[in-house]
Amino acid sequence: MPKPIRIRRRSVFLSLAFIVLIGAGIYAGYEIKFTREAKARAVALTMGDPDRGRDLTLRYGCAGCHTIPGVPGAQGNVGPTLQGIAARVYIGGVATNSPDTLIQWIENPRSIDPKTAMPMTGISRAEARDVAAYLYTLR
Ligand code: HEC
Repeated sequence: MPKPIRIRRRSVFLSLAFIVLIGAGIYAGYEIKFTREAKARAVALTMGDPDRGRDLTLRYGCAGCHTIPGVPGAQGNVGPTLQGIAARVYIGGVATNSPDTLIQWIENPRSIDPKTAMPMTGISRAEARDVAAYLYTLR
C-alpha cells in the first residue's frame, strides 16, 4: 500500500497567495507601462505637459463642468465627461478630433462652434496645450 500524499492546507494557501501576488505584480507592471506609453504619446501629439495640464483643469473651472478622471473633485455634469476623449472622433460633435483642434477648442470653443454652451475660460494657448496633453492621456 503506497502512503497517501498529504497536502497541507497551509501550503495550498501559500501557493495560491503566491500565484495571486505574481498576478498582481504582472498587472501592475502592465498598468505602469501603458500609463507611461499613453503619457509619451500625449506629449508627442500636443507638445504639452500633461501634469501641468491636470492642475490647470482645476484652475480654469473645467472640473466644475466636466467629469475628468484623475482630477480630484472633477465630477461636473454640465458638459460631457472627458474620459476617453482621446478615442472620440468629434469634439463638441462638430470638429474632427485632432491635437490642434482640441487645443483650439479648449482655448476658444466658440471659434469652432459659435452655438456651443461651453464658454471661453480665459486659458492661454500654451496652457490649453498642457490641458490637451493631459486629456489625451485619458483612456
Ligand atoms: C460652464 C461649463 C464649462 C466649462 C467651465 C468648461 N466646459 Fe468644456 N464643455 C462644456 C459643454 C456644455 C460642452 C459640450 C459642448 C458642445 O457639445 O457643444 C463642453 C465640451 C467640451 C469638450 C468636447 C467634449 C466632447 O465630448 O466633444 C472638451 C474637450 C471640453 N469641453 C474641455 C474643457 C476644458 C479643458 C475646460 C477648461 C479649460 C472646459 N471644457 C471648461 C461646458 C464647460
